[in-house]
Amino acid sequence: MKALVTGGAGFIGSSVVRELLNNGHEVTVIDNLSSGYESNILGLDINFVKGDILDKELVESLCKGKDVVFHLAASVGRQRSIDNPVLDAQINLIGTTNILEGIRKHKVKRIVYSSSAAIFGELKSTVIDESHPQEADCPYGVTKLAAEKQILAYSGLFGFTAVCLRYFNVFGLRQRFDAYGNVIPIFANNAYKGLPIKIYGDGEQTRDFICSTDVAKINYLAGTKQDLTTCVINLGSGISITINQLAKMIKEYTNTSSEIVYVPERIGDVKHCKADITKLKSLLGYTPSVDFKGDLIKYLDWFKGDMK
Ligand SMILES: NC(=O)c1ccc[n+]([C@@H]2O[C@H](COP(=O)([O-])OP(=O)(O)OC[C@H]3O[C@@H](n4cnc5c(N)ncnc54)[C@H](O)[C@@H]3O)[C@@H](O)[C@H]2O)c1
Repeated sequence: MKALVTGGAGFIGSSVVRELLNNGHEVTVIDNLSSGYESNILGLDINFVKGDILDKELVESLCKGKDVVFHLAASVGRQRSIDNPVLDAQINLIGTTNILEGIRKHKVKRIVYSSSAAIFGELKSTVIDESHPQEADCPYGVTKLAAEKQILAYSGLFGFTAVCLRYFNVFGLRQRFDAYGNVIPIFANNAYKGLPIKIYGDGEQTRDFICSTDVAKINYLAGTKQDLTTCVINLGSGISITINQLAKMIKEYTNTSSEIVYVPERIGDVKHCKADITKLKSLLGYTPSVDFKGDLIKYLDWFKGDMK
């Protein structure tokens, strides 16, 4: 199979690339390295194109001769989108449409899209299935949802298969600490630097964390499984843990002097969140790893090495 991976130099994209290579496929990556790193894909046997998905001609030319497009390139995250809403809309919606035009023009058979649980907005239930109301409450959630809808519309109009995977909280190797970091890299960074580990509220809020190696395997299945028709799938581990449990595991493993400090809850923060993975299991036949602690330890070891 010949695959195009957009955002392949990113945290999750670089795991999808490895999964494709491990299964013997030919991979082209387009990434503008705005939040990804060339080092994430260094030494891999791929065709790397440093470019922007807003470059319609380039994107279309890269779709030529491909069997599947794995679309991960995006402006990622709630706060980034609030800070840069126009760029978020350009990349996530216009960029996605450029890719769809390439797929349409060159008759690519399938797209696997990295969507997000951010499309749901404020959560109305503890366990989230695919029919949960989609009331995105930040530009990122809105553009990820709009892109999902655009992909489904193109799939209906032009007859290719679209699989939209709505990720919950993903963590794993090559996930760096940055200004828009997620909770695990922030805790890891602070633990290794002896800085306070800050918890909003009482820490009893729960989150569904899924490891990027699982996400890569699921992308691979979504891109290759025969007889799969266009669908949306919630993608989490189906297990939730409290932020207190997470902080305790990181504190113990890193043996840090960092103190856990509690600060007032943030307005709009979700109390409990877990993906209903019934559809993931039934459509793709995949059950994510339940070894959260083992995966977290591998991540913490990688993080420590990357700090040097
Ligand atoms: N990390 C999570 O927990 C999470 C949760 C839900 C959804 N997602 C989705 O997963 C995908 C990958 O996210 P990630 O966490 O690996 O983030 P990431 O920032 O590491 O990856 C995004 C990649 O896209 C590239 N990119 C950004 N704009 C581009 C452009 N205009 N042209 C070409 N390349 C561009 C970046 O350089 C980066 O390599 C995104 O679509 C994101 O919305 C991630």
